[in-house]
Amino acid sequence: MAKNRRVFVCSDCGTHHPRWEGRCNGCGSWASVAEAPVEVAVSKTGSTATATDLPALEDFGLSGCLPVPIGFDEVDSVLGGGLVPGSVTLLSGEPGIGKSTLSLQIAMHAAAPGASVVLVTGEEAPAQVAARGVRTGEIPRSLSVLDNTSVSEVIATLTEAKPQLVVIDSIQTLRCDDVDSAAGSVTQLRSAAAQLVNMAKALNVTVLIIGHVTKDGTLAGPRVLEHLVDTVLSFEGDRMNSLRYLRVAKHRYGSTTDVGVFEMTGQGLVSIRDPSDLFLVDRHPGAPGSVVVPTIEGRRPLLVELQSLVNQSHGMGAHISTQGVPTARVKQAMALLSRYLDVEFVSTEVFVSAAGGAKVNEPGGDLALALSLLSSIRNVSLPANLVACAEVGLAGELRSVPHMERRLQEAHRMGFHLVIVPESAPEPPMGLRLVRARSLFGAVEEIQALSA
Ligand code: TYD
Ligand code: MG
Repeated sequence: MAKNRRVFVCSDCGTHHPRWEGRCNGCGSWASVAEAPVEVAVSKTGSTATATDLPALEDFGLSGCLPVPIGFDEVDSVLGGGLVPGSVTLLSGEPGIGKSTLSLQIAMHAAAPGASVVLVTGEEAPAQVAARGVRTGEIPRSLSVLDNTSVSEVIATLTEAKPQLVVIDSIQTLRCDDVDSAAGSVTQLRSAAAQLVNMAKALNVTVLIIGHVTKDGTLAGPRVLEHLVDTVLSFEGDRMNSLRYLRVAKHRYGSTTDVGVFEMTGQGLVSIRDPSDLFLVDRHPGAPGSVVVPTIEGRRPLLVELQSLVNQSHGMGAHISTQGVPTARVKQAMALLSRYLDVEFVSTEVFVSAAGGAKVNEPGGDLALALSLLSSIRNVSLPANLVACAEVGLAGELRSVPHMERRLQEAHRMGFHLVIVPESAPEPPMGLRLVRARSLFGAVEEIQALSA
């Protein structure tokens, strides 16, 4: 049995309403809702289905979601091939970390002959941007600059220019004239971003929006925009160090597990193809407190040297200072050593660092961290070619960690011969010897046997 049902549709945004409305609930437009009759079939079971021909999902294929390479290899690989035309990407990071430099380099790569790229520079004068561009390479003619902070004027100009890529530096400097609050406020950010997203979809223009986040104010900043955009990239690092990581926090068109590694040099950001090599280059193999761990950044294995220095102090408790390793993990490693190996940390100063500005914030570094502390407090070197990779549970047991095969391959590639692992670890690549242990205590016994 079929019967007619009245449906009212907004001509501006397509929102369906069960009854006529003066103002659309979807987009807020006035007088845009009109009746559109639809045949509704009611099945015997009482379920309903529209008689209008809905498109089959598979007919859409991948068209419209295929990335176009920027030509900046490290960024393309993090994005799974490049930027998808008409997509909106938010590049967030702390002030001074290098967002403007990265996005300028992206714009310069994307502005190949025949392409048109526009930089909207609300934050710096065009001359300053050009000076930065000259430091990093040759500025292409097809890269234009728009020195304006009014969203409506920016969108009007871009609607006429129809570039392939627009970089907004930064969303905090834009202002919507019809929003009654200061530039940079959450209402302004939301409104500006929503208008840019609409423009991107309507004109099929790719948009890269820069947003500052601060350590304490992350929620009030561009994080409120994350649900609006297709991709969220975060640019991270320590300003005292030249290493930078580009991580994908959200990606509607691909995976979020990859990470790009860069070095900030005098000529802008340079991709680091072999970060393991960078982290180990100045290492002193066999120094007490030094242990190498194959850690994972995204899907990428990186060999990092963990270093500990444990000294006697005159205070009562242990003073702990860390770099690149969470203090909580150091405390846990100290507690495990104290419980299962009777190591005493009272009246000590404990310094732990991931060398070269690296970060080890995953369970795979637990065993290396404990061995590094033990090696320093006992002032005993570990075998120079030893790598340790295991999570240590609170019962002192060694547990396997994800991507073990990839980690072992990286250790082998970097010339290490010996890896201490949990019993369940997979078979190693040819030429790499695994020492399997069940517990932290067992691992230490195995290492002592090796050194004897
Ligand atoms: P910037 O991109 O302005 O950071 P953000 O936009 O995130 O605030 O760059 C920050 C720092 O990078 C700045 O202190 C200078 C440094 N820098 C270099 O070391 N080399 C370079 O080639 C460039 C362009 C900048
Ligand atoms: Mg900047």
